[in-house]
Amino acid sequence: MCGIVGFIGNRDCKEILLYGLEKLEYRGYDSAGIALINEDGVKVFKEKGRIADLREGVDESVMASRGIGHTRWATHGVPSKVNAHPHQSTSNRFTLVHNGVIENYDIIKKAELADVNFVSETDTEVIVQLIDKNVNSGLSVEEAFRKTLSTLKGSYAIGLLDAQDQDTIYVAKNKSPLLVGLGDGFNVVASDAMAMLQVTKQYVELMDKEVVIVKKDSVQILKLNGDKVERSPFTAELDASDIEKGTYPHYMLKEIDEQPFVMRKIISQYQDDNGQILLDEDVRNAMLAADRVYIIACGTSYHAGLVGKHYIEKFAKVPVEVHVASEFSYNMPLLSEKPLFIFISQSGETADSRSVLVQVKEHGYKALTITNVPGSTLSREADYTLLLHAGPEIAVASTKAYTAQLAVLAILAVDVANAKGIKLDFDIIQEFGIIANAMEALCNDKDRFDMLAKEFLSTTRNCFFIGRGIDYYVCLEGALKLKEISYIQAEGFAGGELKHGTIALIEDGTPVIALSTQEHVNLSIRGNVKEVVARGANPCIISIRGLENDEDSYTVPAVHEDFTSLVTVVPLQLLSYYAALHRDCDVDKPRNLAKSVTVE
Ligand code: F6R
Repeated sequence: MCGIVGFIGNRDCKEILLYGLEKLEYRGYDSAGIALINEDGVKVFKEKGRIADLREGVDESVMASRGIGHTRWATHGVPSKVNAHPHQSTSNRFTLVHNGVIENYDIIKKAELADVNFVSETDTEVIVQLIDKNVNSGLSVEEAFRKTLSTLKGSYAIGLLDAQDQDTIYVAKNKSPLLVGLGDGFNVVASDAMAMLQVTKQYVELMDKEVVIVKKDSVQILKLNGDKVERSPFTAELDASDIEKGTYPHYMLKEIDEQPFVMRKIISQYQDDNGQILLDEDVRNAMLAADRVYIIACGTSYHAGLVGKHYIEKFAKVPVEVHVASEFSYNMPLLSEKPLFIFISQSGETADSRSVLVQVKEHGYKALTITNVPGSTLSREADYTLLLHAGPEIAVASTKAYTAQLAVLAILAVDVANAKGIKLDFDIIQEFGIIANAMEALCNDKDRFDMLAKEFLSTTRNCFFIGRGIDYYVCLEGALKLKEISYIQAEGFAGGELKHGTIALIEDGTPVIALSTQEHVNLSIRGNVKEVVARGANPCIISIRGLENDEDSYTVPAVHEDFTSLVTVVPLQLLSYYAALHRDCDVDKPRNLAKSVTVE
């Protein structure tokens, strides 16, 4: 959460910083600020709200070719102008932006900075005040910076300006993502390459507990003890157009529409010249060696893990447990003798998942990360990676990453089944083609989902989703999507479970969205719908061709029974999208949320 940028070079950088922050708004958007440094000193501009609000407050006449910026997702202290970054030391000599959480900030405050008058409620201010104090004790800025970082416990990506040295941005990273970008006559700093693609595609990756001295024509990486580190740059495989909305009103709608394309891309990425599934041999061997798979994830990725369990157990015959990362981290169950851990994470940066990965590696277990972001922390730190190839996902509500996660998990399961000689009743490449076409048909039927959203969701207080088996797992995802962007209290339930308590909440007109795509439970789920209708519910049944009925609100095209989740989730995504629009909600930037959750 929170995004930072920095620029040092040969031209006015206000617009570069502001544009970069706009591209990082997915990481947090409750307040923002920039600091510019020139011959006249340091100028700080901050606002509560979005980058658009900040833009209005920035003095156009200030010209500066060095600066840092920040967009915030509040952890310590309410979203406000005072708590917005950059923060300055009392002397105004140092100005700093920070992404992360300093766990021992209160201890440092009391032990080392008792005489300092803090102006904000943030943990961040402790860092900048301590740097100032350490410089006052006689250290150089670089020494004071490294000394301060050694005192901090927690996560940080930091950009620091010194009012007495216009030629340097000091940078550091621990657990929070940060890259240094290289240009001709300038260098940049960003939480994500997306922020600076407009000026460079060349980046240097930073490791935890590294410090970087960034000047306009040099970049020096150091360890916390001052040892020098050499590292070659890489080229970001991103195109500026990948991160634009184009003609779409929202990123979420664009990303829903991209799903058929992503399915086809995944087929091409995981297929050999003979049209057979092709997976990294090391990943296959790790799966074959495991007596049990533990899937660890959060939110939407956790929901994808539940469907992944179905694939891996049914196709590859390997037992699977799926765990919410934040729980697993503190309540590790009894493990099997030869576990394999699979981390599912769109961003590859989720702190809760990373905390489990760190423990897993300490125990010496093997770990595979399934992620959309090559080079992300979870990818780097696991033994193996499978990429989603979904392209940047910018809307806070995850859509195409979810379907890509299901697709990659299915490929993994099929590959292991093939390696074990288990015969399957389908050709996955053919099935994925059918699924891509079905997704396309659903995306072309948006008006219908708009109407259904208006009818069922435009004014309701709450909504229930019911399904059985893999339909139940999609219901959990449908409910999460609806609540996060439309703020409707929505819950997904196993069809048979509602009557064990929650049915008490059904009132006249309560919408109940029921999924029926599995023949063996079709009659039972329809029975569950009758139970809620008898208590006044307004049912919206989404079935699949072949199991449809006159009472259904929508029927999705037929696909193989094991892969219906890839298709039924599309109507649920579109219903959420239109429900949010009908309720005047900010679809791409829902309240209280951020895309990349880098705090535990
Ligand atoms: C919901 C959503 C979140 C994420 C969760 C994990 O739409 O996006 O629930 O799925 O925060 O994020 P990743 O997959 O990046 O680990």
